[in-house]
Amino acid sequence: MRVLVIGSGAREHALLLALRKDPQVTALWVAPGNAGTARVAEQHDVDVTSGADVVALAREVRADLVVIGPEVPLVLGVADALRAAGIVCFGPSKDAARIEGSKAFAKEVMAAAGVRTAASETVDSPAHLDAALDRFGPPAGDPAWVVKDDRLAAGKGVVVTADRGIARAHAAELLEAGHPVLLESYLDGPEVSLFCVVDGETVVPLLPAQDFKRVGEGDTGPNTGGMGAYAPLPWLPDEVYRDIVANIVEPVAAELVRRDSPFCGLLYVGLAITAGGPAVVEFNCRFGDPETQAVLALLESPLGQLLYAAGTGKLAELGELRWREGAAVTVVLAAENYPGRPRVGDVVTGAEAEGVLHAGTARRDDGEVVSSGGRVLSVVGTGADLAAARAQAYELMRSIRLPGSHFRGDIALLAAEGRISV
Ligand code: GLY
Repeated sequence: MRVLVIGSGAREHALLLALRKDPQVTALWVAPGNAGTARVAEQHDVDVTSGADVVALAREVRADLVVIGPEVPLVLGVADALRAAGIVCFGPSKDAARIEGSKAFAKEVMAAAGVRTAASETVDSPAHLDAALDRFGPPAGDPAWVVKDDRLAAGKGVVVTADRGIARAHAAELLEAGHPVLLESYLDGPEVSLFCVVDGETVVPLLPAQDFKRVGEGDTGPNTGGMGAYAPLPWLPDEVYRDIVANIVEPVAAELVRRDSPFCGLLYVGLAITAGGPAVVEFNCRFGDPETQAVLALLESPLGQLLYAAGTGKLAELGELRWREGAAVTVVLAAENYPGRPRVGDVVTGAEAEGVLHAGTARRDDGEVVSSGGRVLSVVGTGADLAAARAQAYELMRSIRLPGSHFRGDIALLAAEGRISV
């Protein structure tokens, strides 16, 4: 099987490494890729938001399967262009990708599917902002306003704050730029990211993971695309996991089929496990980053065959997935000033080791790896338990040098110490 992967993050680096282990995968390409993926797959610099360009590349390399990593090409309909050209694709259509591309659409689907999620209201005019903020303010006991950009924002469009002034300023800035704002009630409880491979109504869940969205240790500072993750979740009871699949993911997949927008690809549900049970924070239409780096480190089943089965509508024929025992932890190394405008162009050393997955990196003409984005790379550690996986990940991190960079030292710490309960 000849596979083309679209994207340039550590998620795509992890996908490529897992695909390479599949005995049926004979050749790999990536577009546009980074300095790390170039060592795994032949790299092509095409505009991945253009369906025509991706189709042309897939034809040129005679891809049997195209795996689309990031949300932007999906929301723009690149998967539709591939399917129209008769090319097997892992990734939802433009219609189905609205589950991530429009938060209002996701809420509508969840309501129709009877899925528990935060109460919400879309505000599209500054004149309505103050009254709406009053309706969503933290009443006694509730910690926060949740203000979201209604469009794609790479995880950085969300502000969760107990300070009305901060909530108002974020919403007003978005509205002034002409972007609708979603106000939500706060969901209190530990968060879960559950990835499900879906084709139509068939849902194959992967191991549950947890992501760390804030930039600072102890969950402080602004939101990022994700600063680290771990899998599986020792504190999540099996019956809650099964409840999420049966009563959240399957009804949403069925609702998308009912609307003639069947989902084929990776349906990512982000949840909070509240006192009243699991409630949805968001749906995404692709693998999450950095959770993928941890989840795929534990996958033993052949990934290419799994994604191809979904892309060809044969997921139901596939047997149970096999997983390696133990745990995986991934920690992100970010450039100075991330999640603001990151400093780029610095030499990164130690990044060629096994277990280092590249994201914002490029190879300079003199052969050095340099930083080229906010999240520069992820390290992945595995072990018999979370403590062992953490130890391996942080040991790897200590061998990497990038001036001004930062990472969180507390990824998976509470879970490793048994301090999360639901
Ligand atoms: N880890 C969050 C995301 O991928 O959206």
